[in-house]
Amino acid sequence: MQKDWWKTSVAYQIYIRSFYDSDGDGMGDLRGIIEKLDYLKTLGINAIWITPFYPSPLDDNGYDISDFMAVDPSLGTLEEAKELIEKAHSLGIKVLLDYVMNQTSDEHPWFIESKSSVDNPKRSYYLWAPGRVNPAGERVEPNNWGAFFGGPAWNYSPETDQYYMKIFSDKMPDINWDYEPLRKEMAQVARFWLDLGVDGFRMDAIAHLGRDLSFKNSKLAGPWELAYDWSKFSNRDVLYDYLHELHKDVFQHYNVLTIGEVGGGAKLPDALKYVNKERPAIDMVFNFDTVWCNGLENRTILKPEKIKVNVAELRKRLVYWLKGSIEAGIAFPMYWTNHDHPRALSQYGDINFHQVSGRLLAMVLLSLPGMIFIYNGEEIGMTNVDYQSLEDFKDASSRNFIRDHKHKYTSEQIMTHLRYAGRDNGHLPFQWSNTKYGGFSTSEPYLKMNDNYQWINAEDQMNDQQSIWSMYREMIQLRLESDYSSILTQGNFDVLDHQHPDVFVFVRRYENHEIITLANFRDHYVQYPIMSGKVLQSNYETYDHKGLQPYEGRLIWREYDEKNS
Ligand code: GLC
Repeated sequence: MQKDWWKTSVAYQIYIRSFYDSDGDGMGDLRGIIEKLDYLKTLGINAIWITPFYPSPLDDNGYDISDFMAVDPSLGTLEEAKELIEKAHSLGIKVLLDYVMNQTSDEHPWFIESKSSVDNPKRSYYLWAPGRVNPAGERVEPNNWGAFFGGPAWNYSPETDQYYMKIFSDKMPDINWDYEPLRKEMAQVARFWLDLGVDGFRMDAIAHLGRDLSFKNSKLAGPWELAYDWSKFSNRDVLYDYLHELHKDVFQHYNVLTIGEVGGGAKLPDALKYVNKERPAIDMVFNFDTVWCNGLENRTILKPEKIKVNVAELRKRLVYWLKGSIEAGIAFPMYWTNHDHPRALSQYGDINFHQVSGRLLAMVLLSLPGMIFIYNGEEIGMTNVDYQSLEDFKDASSRNFIRDHKHKYTSEQIMTHLRYAGRDNGHLPFQWSNTKYGGFSTSEPYLKMNDNYQWINAEDQMNDQQSIWSMYREMIQLRLESDYSSILTQGNFDVLDHQHPDVFVFVRRYENHEIITLANFRDHYVQYPIMSGKVLQSNYETYDHKGLQPYEGRLIWREYDEKNS
């Protein structure tokens, strides 16, 4: 098998429950993916990452797992998982699975045992601590740490009158990587799937496996207030030991790809600790910096406003991560969004310029360096939800957001925020055609669809040379199978214009050729002196050399001579 195949790979992330429903129960499934592999082959991708399909009570979309080594019956069988892997391989598509490492479901047998008594053999699989008594004499959490999904990072368990740590939802107890028997169990989980033939993992939430086990209060808030202090359980040194051990025990015996989700807060020096040749742990990290350039996640948007892409921030973050990684000699994944984020079209494009801005996003993404990840639906420019009722938002973090804000804000204000930034946006059922339920299912989907499937759908776009879908396909071909492939997959990366507020211009250079990408992120014409060279790709049929039309992108190829530059 080719080593480091991922360096020239374009992957596609499948959010399984919303991808394609093969059996008419309103929810996507494994067979749905099998049936759509030919579609993916036509698009041109050569790897897939499938979100969790393991048994789960579905508190957090399958990231709350009650059995790591099985398939949820509502999604298929282990035989189907094997069939999927085999069929994908026969089409030249590698398969990555989600390896969920931070927590189990509270319905996992380990947890059921662990909570039953303080001396149960599985007690130390999780993190337990006694509560405190506050000045009012009430029993409260062991410390002031807050959780990612809101509220405290602890939940009370009456069986032993103690609290267990949980940095996501109450139903997702964190597992204790400090305890060797637990680490051995988790290594076995990885082996199980690798032995079935998968080509690697996207490792969920790995940044949090190391915690401050002193459980001391965070100083970011008073002892009785909640402190959202991620440093207590993010990117802490001890976790590199756990990952190095896992590499030695498991990964080094397989030629597989491991990409860790390190989320917000991680910087390049952290990435270099994860991807460390001296002390191997994993192959790449997913950071979040480059997906939240517009600052949506930290802003409670109380009034509808048009999102203006923050080009300066986008450029700054891409330069930091991409140039930094290339200089440090590490591989990295490049993507617009995943299942936790708003839709790329709604954040970086513009629904009023749907086709052209969606095509622009394809051109930019697929001319950047790194292993590319396309999120399902991005290739047809699916948009954020148009939900009109709070009830339609089902995601655990959205539900908690509603719970925490409903006393202070109106429903309309909360919905405005969730429509911009909520995780339901990424979970929308895939829009396959303009038929009922968007061709996703024959019955009512488990999650409300957007009505715009009538004009945004794969079938129409596959028949249209000028569609977003066709641009994704052309760009994938250009990147992987053209005379320009080496520039796009191996070329270095630099920004040509460090100042422009509206236009992002970068260059890829390889040997004596270069490809320049120009991208106008505004809904109006912007004057810009366009360089000479052969136009390799454009999202408009006609263009001029004095500037860029709304959301215009252009790829220019030319010879590069260091002496003349
Ligand atoms: C990751 C996943 C997210 C999930 C969380 C807890 O961030 O991407 O969807 O909620 O981990 O597993």
